[in-house]
Amino acid sequence: MATERTLSIIKPDGVKKNVIGPIITKFEENGLHVVAARMEKLSRHQAEGFYAVHKERPFFGELVDFMTSAPVLLMVLEGPDAIKKNRELMGATDPAEAADGTIRKLYASSKGENTVHGSDAPETAAFEIGWFFPQADVTSRG
Ligand code: CMP
Repeated sequence: MATERTLSIIKPDGVKKNVIGPIITKFEENGLHVVAARMEKLSRHQAEGFYAVHKERPFFGELVDFMTSAPVLLMVLEGPDAIKKNRELMGATDPAEAADGTIRKLYASSKGENTVHGSDAPETAAFEIGWFFPQADVTSRG
């Protein structure tokens, strides 16, 4: 399995529910390492650029409003198959469809307020990591 990096966001609902710790523990217990992290209240420019691929969707305005409503925790996770592993741990976008034990099943309340984001492919991971973290801010392990 290739070592990969992926962008993870603990969204405003996850930060407000005070579940940063258990979410990071789940990542760490499953072989993912936090190699960069920053807590920040996103600007509209940051959120709109990050989600630009969704800008024609009917929920885009709602998504940007939510993501800029309170601080988020931005992280780069590293590990074997990190992109797929992170998405398995997050569960389906809609918490009603998420498997038992996944982060969204445990903590999310709706499709919009779904607690975590994770990159869905190597190309998006590269874009998303670069959008929030200059190269120099991502550490290497060991
Ligand atoms: P995320 O993985 O961050 O990527 C895009 C986000 O759009 C997604 O999680 C959801 O939070 C949000 N989203 C997707 N579908 C809907 C929807 N029907 N209504 C509101 N938000 C949505």
